[in-house]
Amino acid sequence: MNIILVGFMGSGKTTIARILSRRLKLRFVDTDKLIEKQQGLTIAEIFDKKGEGYFRELERKIINSHLKFCDGCIVATGGGMPCFFDNMERLKSIGLVVWIDTDFEEIKNRVKNSKKRPLFLDQERAFELFKRRKECYNKAHIRIDGRMDKEKVAQEIEKLIGGSFL
Ligand code: S3P
Repeated sequence: MNIILVGFMGSGKTTIARILSRRLKLRFVDTDKLIEKQQGLTIAEIFDKKGEGYFRELERKIINSHLKFCDGCIVATGGGMPCFFDNMERLKSIGLVVWIDTDFEEIKNRVKNSKKRPLFLDQERAFELFKRRKECYNKAHIRIDGRMDKEKVAQEIEKLIGGSFL
C-alpha cells in the first residue's frame, strides 16, 4: 500500500511526504522530480518548450510506468495530477489518497518563487484554478487541514493510518 498526497501548489505535499517517509521509514517519491529527471528538463522548461498538454501526458504515464509498481511509498504529486484524465481514480486504486487542504492566503505566502510554477505566475488566475480544483481534490479518500504545522499534519496522517496497512 502507498500514501499519495494531493493538493494545490504550495499546500505542503512535498515537505509533508518527506517527513512521513522519514517517520515511517518508507520510500519518498515526488512525481514532478521523476518527470524532470526523465525529461532532463525542469517543469517550467517542459511547459515552456512542449506545452501543458505534453506535461499532462507525462503525468498520466508516470502513474502507469512508476506509481503502479510502488509498494510502501509516500508519494507527493504535482498539484494538477489528480485533476486530469482518470488519474484520481487510478491513484485511489494504488494507495490512500490524502488531500492536503490549505487555504489560498496561506498558499500565496508560501509560494514565493512563482518562476518554478508556470501556473502560479498570475495570482488571480491561480486563485480561479484553486477554486476549480477543489471539486477534484474532494474526491480523495481523506482530507487533512494543511494550515497546521507540517510535522503536525504528518503526525495526523500517521494517526489516521494507524500503522496497520503499510
Ligand atoms: C502544477 C503543479 C506543480 C507542477 C506543475 C503544475 C499544477 O506541482 O506539477 O507546475 O497544475 O497545479 P506542485 O503542486 O508541486 O507545485
